[in-house]
Amino acid sequence: MHRDCERILIDEKELKEICKRLGKQISDDFRDSDKKLLLVCILKGSLIFTADLMREIDIPCEIDFMKASSYGDRTISNGTVHISLDLKKQDLSDYNIVIIEDILDTGNTLYHLINVLEGRGCDTIKLCVLLDKPERRERPIIVDYEGKVIPDEFVIGYGLDYNEEYRNLPYVGILKPEVYENN
Ligand code: PRP
Repeated sequence: MHRDCERILIDEKELKEICKRLGKQISDDFRDSDKKLLLVCILKGSLIFTADLMREIDIPCEIDFMKASSYGDRTISNGTVHISLDLKKQDLSDYNIVIIEDILDTGNTLYHLINVLEGRGCDTIKLCVLLDKPERRERPIIVDYEGKVIPDEFVIGYGLDYNEEYRNLPYVGILKPEVYENN
């Protein structure tokens, strides 16, 4: 385990099981649809989750990326959201969309993204979230595919960072408070 990690919250085995379960649900839900499936990976944190999840989806799918930020530099959300990278396609009327997020916290990011995508002609927008911190919610968000509800701890690894570090850890761990308290 990394020395800055207090404990492992979700190990590699459990992460794989989560991806398998969610991948099957998504495949089954869209298998008979007339529309194409577009996975929208929200960078950067969802990169690894998306890569693992899409390999558990056994129907044709496309992938694209968006980047939206709601956090300040540190550990506290600042509530403002802006899109710094957008999808290539603007007309989404031929697609069912599944937004893939690593973590749902205040909900500000997803609330904004869903509003933006709803305005682009897409009837079906579903939400797939690996980690859900319901205690922190400020916006009403309905999660269609949920990995795991977690406590309000600072989590790192499997795509999640603190100051851009730790994304490459293969598990989700809890960051030792002294790491961010001393900075
Ligand atoms: C994180 C996470 C979500 C968002 C969730 O992204 O990946 O997109 O914050 O927070 P919210 O529910 O309070 O809006 P972050 O802005 O840290 O960017 P990153 O994925 O590039 O690390």
